[in-house]
Amino acid sequence: MVQRVKAVEMQTGGLMVEWQDGKSARFPYFWLRDHCPEPESLNQDTLQREVDTFTIPLDITAERAEISGADQKIAVTWQHDGFVSRFNAAFLREMAFPADCTERQLWRGEDIQDSLPEFDFASIKAGDDGLLAMLEGVEKFGFAVINGLPTSVDATRDFITRVGYVRETIFGGLWDFSANMAHSDTAYTTADIGPHTDGTYSFDSPGLQLLHCLAFDGEGGISVFADGFKIAETIRERDPEAFQILTEVEVPGHYLEDGVHLVAKHRIINVDERGNLVQACFNNFDRAPFLLEEDRMMRFYHALRQFHDLAYDPEMQVRFQLVPGKAVLFDNWRVLHARTAYTGFRHLAGAYINREDFDSRLRVLRHRR
Ligand code: OGA
Ligand code: ZN
Repeated sequence: MVQRVKAVEMQTGGLMVEWQDGKSARFPYFWLRDHCPEPESLNQDTLQREVDTFTIPLDITAERAEISGADQKIAVTWQHDGFVSRFNAAFLREMAFPADCTERQLWRGEDIQDSLPEFDFASIKAGDDGLLAMLEGVEKFGFAVINGLPTSVDATRDFITRVGYVRETIFGGLWDFSANMAHSDTAYTTADIGPHTDGTYSFDSPGLQLLHCLAFDGEGGISVFADGFKIAETIRERDPEAFQILTEVEVPGHYLEDGVHLVAKHRIINVDERGNLVQACFNNFDRAPFLLEEDRMMRFYHALRQFHDLAYDPEMQVRFQLVPGKAVLFDNWRVLHARTAYTGFRHLAGAYINREDFDSRLRVLRHRR
């Protein structure tokens, strides 16, 4: 529901806006002029800023402010040049009180083990509604299982490119792997791989990851997932000091093979300025050496252990087998993945997608709906 504006009041340095529901917010005059939506200030075709932020007087002030028209434009007349900026009330409301439209549901294993977010490839292929339902599954739970995806790399590509373009990394674009040690990574073996996120050696760890099973004939190789955000919230509740240190210490990750030496740093838990979770980055296998002052080092290890213990706790995990034709698309900024050791032959294909490309797809499809 669009909230109606009740009143605007010019104050020193900024404009106070009050809505019918009793909420109010203040907008600095400088900020308002910088966000002026008029054609002189904002390119109407590209929505790129054209106002020169740096020539706006720092002490800019309004001469008049009024609510006008049925659509409730807030018209501000500027004192120094008489120019009128007309703001959308809904825009100001959204800036002051951003609607949190991401419906994230944090989980422990038992919450979803019997009701995994599963989608048929046929329904995704059929149209954007099916695709959007699957993407919203990823948004909500951090992963989606896709059934009935034909067992070819072409099908992997057809599927993933509907979500976003494939990211190039040291492993190539669209990759496929079996236990052949094509790269110096346990992915290319039959060994057990414990819970981790990928790409801690990249400053921009891949946002989304796809694993698609093309062939499996053997025992083991169970896929395991744990909700890194649930782990983070559990630590925040139990041990705020441990949570804090995991949001502060920059942990280096590395990847080494012939001719390659990647290093990047990440906090295990990333929060925004409001304390909301943004990203979990945990890969103890790829952690590069670093040394802190002794007390802080030990407090870090203590905190890291809590993260590890929760990630490895079967109660925090869901597990299922990637059989031929089954794929999983997951949020690599949130969900940790693992796989148990296996025997026999297993062939997976997969790809990474950038976070913003996934978000963009979701936004565009939602907007169309
Ligand atoms: C990986 C990985 C999982 C799997 O390649 O990083 O975690 O199922 N693989 O093989
Ligand atoms: Zn991995």
